[in-house]
Amino acid sequence: MPTLTQNISIEKIAKSRLPEQDINNSPFGKVFSDHMLIATYTEGNWEEVKIIPYGKIEMSPSISALHYGQAIFEGLKAYKNAEGEPLLFRPDANWKRLNKSAERMCMPPVPEEIFMEGLKELIKLDADWIPNQEGSVLYIRPTYFATDESIGLKPATNYKFIIITCPVGAYYSHPVKLIVTEKYVRAFEGGTGEAKTSGNYAGSLLADKEAKAAGYDNVLWLDGKEKKYIEECGTMNVAFVINDTVITPQLTGTILRGITRDSVLTLLKDMGVKVEERSLSIDEVATAYEKGELTEAFGMGTAATIAQIDTINYRGKDMILPPIAQRKYAPQIYEKLEAIKYGKIADPYGWVCKVKS
Ligand code: COI
Repeated sequence: MPTLTQNISIEKIAKSRLPEQDINNSPFGKVFSDHMLIATYTEGNWEEVKIIPYGKIEMSPSISALHYGQAIFEGLKAYKNAEGEPLLFRPDANWKRLNKSAERMCMPPVPEEIFMEGLKELIKLDADWIPNQEGSVLYIRPTYFATDESIGLKPATNYKFIIITCPVGAYYSHPVKLIVTEKYVRAFEGGTGEAKTSGNYAGSLLADKEAKAAGYDNVLWLDGKEKKYIEECGTMNVAFVINDTVITPQLTGTILRGITRDSVLTLLKDMGVKVEERSLSIDEVATAYEKGELTEAFGMGTAATIAQIDTINYRGKDMILPPIAQRKYAPQIYEKLEAIKYGKIADPYGWVCKVKS
């Protein structure tokens, strides 16, 4: 039986756009590499997997994703090691999370071989787009959406799974200022908060816009029921260091199951750091701040990597956290995680995946 790799049709771009780009200094998410992968699911079958030059795709205005939001995505990154070989970080975890989101959004699973082999073929083809300069990487955006040409409300029977890639620098180029909102909520029990579905991000935009207008980078979300417990930041999971313990909200179904979050917690635990995954109220954080017990706060996400949080505004008052130079855990964990991703130190977890075997 032919393998999927043999069945992926590849149409190479006539002339690479790479020479026109400064890939070590690209703004986040605006410059796209030469190729993209498109897999098509039609009435119960994955039919066609192809890699073609990046470009516009023709769609009917009636496609169901546009109307009812059956649309999910993922985010991961490709790095280059010292030998110049492309590496992926935990792509299997992204594949699993994509299918968890798919289940919640009533979409058929994407087969592992389409995700993994398709991804590797694409990265092999566009390996020269992976920046050489540390701090810049090739961000990979798998996206999966319903394409039924129908505006009847029902789970679609036609889908497209697409992977595009773009060279990027840091998502946050400076320590982050967050503002707690009690006006809006991101998710609630039984909802779609845990799924990486487009609507969760759309729903956060107004709060985010108001946060930016008030001088903050983003919103710190509280739970939808009591508006008391910290959830996440929308672009990343969050953790707080109180009395030398790293505390992060537990996964309740309302926050994203961050792969960076999981990697950070694994590293911290293996370093012997005390870690707690539990409900953490904003009042507990504010009290710890008043007592001088809150020594760090940081975000964890694929795009954000580990982002230092320097200010948290709660009910009109800014909590200004200790300077980055005084922080003990986040800088250390950032260095360690990046070293693993770039293949500079041993990876005892099997997280790093070579594209060319
Ligand atoms: C990621 O971190 O990969 C995301 O998808 C978050 C997005 C806001 C850039």
